[in-house]
Amino acid sequence: MEQIVTYLSADQIAERVKALGADIKRDYQDKRLAIIIVLKGSFVFAADLIRAIDLPHLRVDFLGVRSYEGTESSGVVQITNDLSRPIEDEDVLLVEDIVDTGLTISYLLDLLQTRKPRSLKVCALLHKPARAKIAVPIEYLGFTIEDRFVIGYGLDFGEKFRNLPFLGVLQRA
Ligand code: IMP
Repeated sequence: MEQIVTYLSADQIAERVKALGADIKRDYQDKRLAIIIVLKGSFVFAADLIRAIDLPHLRVDFLGVRSYEGTESSGVVQITNDLSRPIEDEDVLLVEDIVDTGLTISYLLDLLQTRKPRSLKVCALLHKPARAKIAVPIEYLGFTIEDRFVIGYGLDFGEKFRNLPFLGVLQRA
């Protein structure tokens, strides 16, 4: 039997997300910000994050990608849903749930650069440096975590557990 153990509580996450929102507000004060939410794992984080960014000119778009089977990255990134509008000349912030090997975000940064945004930065809730295969710049980071497979707050294991309000790990009881 496996049980879910809390890794980061809803309160810990909320406090950090608030701080990230304030940092982003400060840095994009006089700009029009295009937030690109990488689906599916980031949707819960992004929903909280955008409400913590107090800016008048902020738009949201979605990029659907699939890069994972089970708990191992396949290294192959598949676009399942492209952006609805161009990002040329816009200040773009890519919002990711977790940077693990870095392969997904690196692929997406290369792809989006070809669309000529004015600036392109990354905001990730979690970073697992132990598993990095490629270095990626993360301008806004929630938490650095150890090499554990985490679930909840939008993150899944085989499409399950996205609805947990906190981040947890599966442990043998
Ligand atoms: P990367 O390409 O290895 O950096 O993987 C990025 C994607 O893998 C994330 O957007 C997640 O969807 C998924 N992923 C990586 N680690 C975890 C984890 O611990 N829990 C759930 N999903 C994960």
